[in-house]
Amino acid sequence: MSPTSNFRGTPAVDSTTVFQPNLFVGKVLFCTGGGSGICRTMTEAIMKHGADAVIVGRNAERLATASEELEKLTGRRCIPAPADVRKPAQLKEAVEKTIATFGRIDFVICGAAGNFLAPISGLSENAFRTVIEIDTLGTYNTVKATLSHVRSAHGSYIHVSATLHYRGTPYQAHVSAAKAAVDALSQVIAVEEGPHGVRSNVIAPGPIGGTEGMERLSAQLKAGSSASVDSTSWSADHSSGIPVARWGDKRDIANAAVFLFSPAASFVSGAVLVIDGASEHVRSPQLPYPLSVLDPAAVRELIKPRL
Ligand SMILES: NC(=O)c1ccc[n+]([C@@H]2O[C@H](COP(=O)([O-])OP(=O)(O)OC[C@H]3O[C@@H](n4cnc5c(N)ncnc54)[C@H](OP(=O)(O)O)[C@@H]3O)[C@@H](O)[C@H]2O)c1
Repeated sequence: MSPTSNFRGTPAVDSTTVFQPNLFVGKVLFCTGGGSGICRTMTEAIMKHGADAVIVGRNAERLATASEELEKLTGRRCIPAPADVRKPAQLKEAVEKTIATFGRIDFVICGAAGNFLAPISGLSENAFRTVIEIDTLGTYNTVKATLSHVRSAHGSYIHVSATLHYRGTPYQAHVSAAKAAVDALSQVIAVEEGPHGVRSNVIAPGPIGGTEGMERLSAQLKAGSSASVDSTSWSADHSSGIPVARWGDKRDIANAAVFLFSPAASFVSGAVLVIDGASEHVRSPQLPYPLSVLDPAAVRELIKPRL
């Protein structure tokens, strides 16, 4: 009989049960990708501690709904600023709207991103470029549009990266390249802008349950499943491969953001905070390896070239 454990993980908590409720009163957050998923939960947490916020994304309707909900949940102000992070002029407008409304920007979360599964052999130039443009150039554009205000406020950046690029993750060449560049950018910002009072850090989430990103990727896996791809064990039972014995929760990432923006982190800059329950240290590939690269037919539906 194989050894078992009754431990099912320590549940994630709300940041307000740990940090001061008035931690961010008078502060303003500018968050790209804040209309959904992880970045929306990060925004909610920062607002619950007293900050007002601006959320940025392309889908104006979703942003408007999210802003209303965030205001109701937190009692703070949140305004939607529709913009494509690939378009510097649109980001400039979003920043102008922020300054006109709140007069300052203290915190920036660069979280807008795109993802899908595709092998390098079938990845079109357009598909690769699109992810680089959203993740990497989008981060650059966001930093450029906000930096003067963040400097004035002696504020702080959080770049939402990933752990994919620490190893060769199959079908993630585009995201791996894009996020590696984001990590590099954050380090340089930390060094160049530190003397101006600006901090810059990276949060690298592992697989976080209940996110659109993970739903999309696991749906792709399920759609492409065959006898050799056990999508059940990948999705429902994947937590068994996570050392802390549970999936990541969006609040795990939000709690880290509260810490990194707080004065308790005033000596933390240029850091990469991996939040993955130690998953990165376990060698358990998500796809059968090397079958998935030696015999693409076994995962044919999954690895269809995109765009
Ligand atoms: N989910 C995970 O387990 C996981 C793991 C590691 C890292 N991450 C990272 O965490 C962040 C959030 O991921 P998520 O899973 O929560 O996904 P998500 O809900 O799909 O968030 C992505 C957000 O980015 C916005 N966005 C995409 N393209 C954009 C563009 N061109 N301009 C402006 N906004 C754009 C989307 O809004 P619109 O569609 O309205 O533009 C959406 O709100 C991402 O940086 C992701 O790489 C996630």
